[in-house]
Amino acid sequence: MSVSAAPALDVAAVRAQFPALTGSAADPAPVFFDNPGGTQVPHPVVAAMTDYLVNANANTGGAFATSERSDAALAAARQALADFLNAPAPHQVVFGANMTGLTFAVSRAFGRLLQPGDEIVTTVLDHDANVAPWLELATERGAVIRTVDIRTPDCTLDMDQLAALLSPKTKLLAIGLASNATGTVNDVAAATRLAQAAGARVYVDAVQFAPHRAIDVQALGCDFLVCSAYKFFGPHVGVLYGTEEALDALPAIKVRPASDHLPWRLETGTVNHEGIVGAGAAVDYLADLGRRTAALAPATPRRAAIVAAMDAIAAHEAALFDHLLNGIEALPGARVWGITDRVRFADRGPTACFTWDRLSARETAAHLGRHGVNAWDGDYYAMALMQRLGLAPGGAVRLGLAHYNTTDEVDRVVALLGEAS
Ligand SMILES: Cc1ncc(COP(=O)(O)O)c(C=O)c1O
Repeated sequence: MSVSAAPALDVAAVRAQFPALTGSAADPAPVFFDNPGGTQVPHPVVAAMTDYLVNANANTGGAFATSERSDAALAAARQALADFLNAPAPHQVVFGANMTGLTFAVSRAFGRLLQPGDEIVTTVLDHDANVAPWLELATERGAVIRTVDIRTPDCTLDMDQLAALLSPKTKLLAIGLASNATGTVNDVAAATRLAQAAGARVYVDAVQFAPHRAIDVQALGCDFLVCSAYKFFGPHVGVLYGTEEALDALPAIKVRPASDHLPWRLETGTVNHEGIVGAGAAVDYLADLGRRTAALAPATPRRAAIVAAMDAIAAHEAALFDHLLNGIEALPGARVWGITDRVRFADRGPTACFTWDRLSARETAAHLGRHGVNAWDGDYYAMALMQRLGLAPGGAVRLGLAHYNTTDEVDRVVALLGEAS
């Protein structure tokens, strides 16, 4: 579905579901434009986590009621996340502390399969969580890192260079679906085809794509994909998908009594039960949003409802982002980094990264912060990108939208920036 054809979101109804957005006259809610750093959480997520802790709190696999309830709640959440990612089966979903922890764990296991001289391809555009684990591994195993550059005018990945860097020596491509700085969306399906044709695995960081568009691991064709529930309206839990074949091929690094089967062989220790249940509830929140927004029958399968929600979210965010860009571009001395061409919005998410000659990134974020607007400054761990753009160490201002943001909020932020110019 094209973004403009999606049914309109009822943003007031959306906001009513998020306690952090309510505020009061005496204590108004902030404008949350720090969404790429973490999103707010709707009531059903809070309720599901509370319900787990009150009624099902136990370790897994016991012969008593709360343990059985706990097992059932975790299985239901795993199925929800499988639907969220369009994974063929729930045992292909592995939970962990966060994206970074899961990536270090996968890299550590993957390292046991590497030989000196093997190559790993990373990108300049990636968050360091999809770079540092592979750098560490290369150091440990004598592997070689090759890095794909960006085309600087629009901060898109140089796909020709990617094709040239791949060879039979390449064992893994680590690539992001969307940049946490410039919002650039990479053509991961095409990158995956290239890398797999060279015989490499593909490890995708979908952290910044997940709150904005529907992820379809089968359409992407990747071997692994990782994301974090706290970036898509859930609590702090990491989620890893893999093809059965790729997950099975990973040597498990685990305690001996733990299960030898997926997904448990890759989940170390007791995982964050209430967080996992909350992540499942975040998926159900999105599915409900899709059913209501697109007026789908209540029995519509969850996956179809999620896709409907994400189409409506993408359309709302694209319009809002256009409005935000208009405001930033009108600021004297401002430069937006990344794609600004409105007809190419499919190739980017609603995250604005900008610098200007009036204030430093830090001063800008502090000015906004004093007026109740949450915005990030710095490199947000997109370390290589900021160095490449010559923006290190101060970085840039980042204003990242989510589906609960409004035109009024954009107007308020743009007016505040105008006052400072
Ligand atoms: C693109 C991207 N990848 C990875 C991460 C790290 O995620 P986590 O905090 O779950 O480790 C972030 C966090 O901001 C991110 O934006």
